Amino acid sequence: MKKGLMFGAALLAALGFGTAQAGEVDVTGRKVLVAYYSYSGNTKAVAEAIHAKVGGDLFEIKAEGTYPAEYRPMTEQAKREILSGFRPKLTTSVPDMEQYGVIFIGSPNWWGTITPQVSSFLESYDFAGKTVVPFITHGGGGRQRTIADMTNQCKGCTVVQDGWQGYGNETDDLDDWLDKLTK
Ligand SMILES: Cc1cc2nc3c(=O)[nH]c(=O)nc-3n(C[C@H](O)[C@H](O)[C@H](O)COP(=O)(O)O)c2cc1C
Repeated sequence: MKKGLMFGAALLAALGFGTAQAGEVDVTGRKVLVAYYSYSGNTKAVAEAIHAKVGGDLFEIKAEGTYPAEYRPMTEQAKREILSGFRPKLTTSVPDMEQYGVIFIGSPNWWGTITPQVSSFLESYDFAGKTVVPFITHGGGGRQRTIADMTNQCKGCTVVQDGWQGYGNETDDLDDWLDKLTK
């Protein structure tokens, strides 16, 4: 927990928010939120690894709707949803978003972008003045448009462009990435 506090404070400072804001990271560490959507578990695993390192609160983005069990029809449905700008209704909510200053948001790369569930999440809260740190898992394509789209959809927030991108659930360089974020 303490590590998480220090991380949050250091990140705020590193992002140019100055020491005053850094000092506002309270002693309970509840200013850092690690939120994620995961369909098949990879992004969840990375979220848990980030949370273990930075502390704060862990939150799973869940939404209404189901996907076909078979992979190809599943990906086709996801493609239709993305192309139509579909925003599923969320079934989990963050009780008090106000308290967080730094929010890690995790999404799988779906067709080069973030998932509709993550888009719904971004459009459901006021992130003005908050710092968003994306983390993306992919199947070989890298981040593609994910972080750019997250930036466009997150109104009023600061999105760290050097977010995490990792193949599947690999976390080998995660510590390095987190350390660099704070420098
Ligand atoms: C609908 C769908 C679309 C995908 N599109 C891409 C893609 O465009 N580029 C890519 O690198 N990986 C793509 N993938 C692979 C996922 O990004 C990758 O497996 C990810 O780690 C899954 O995260 P999860 O287990 O948290 O759901 C896609 C997977 C699905 C299910």
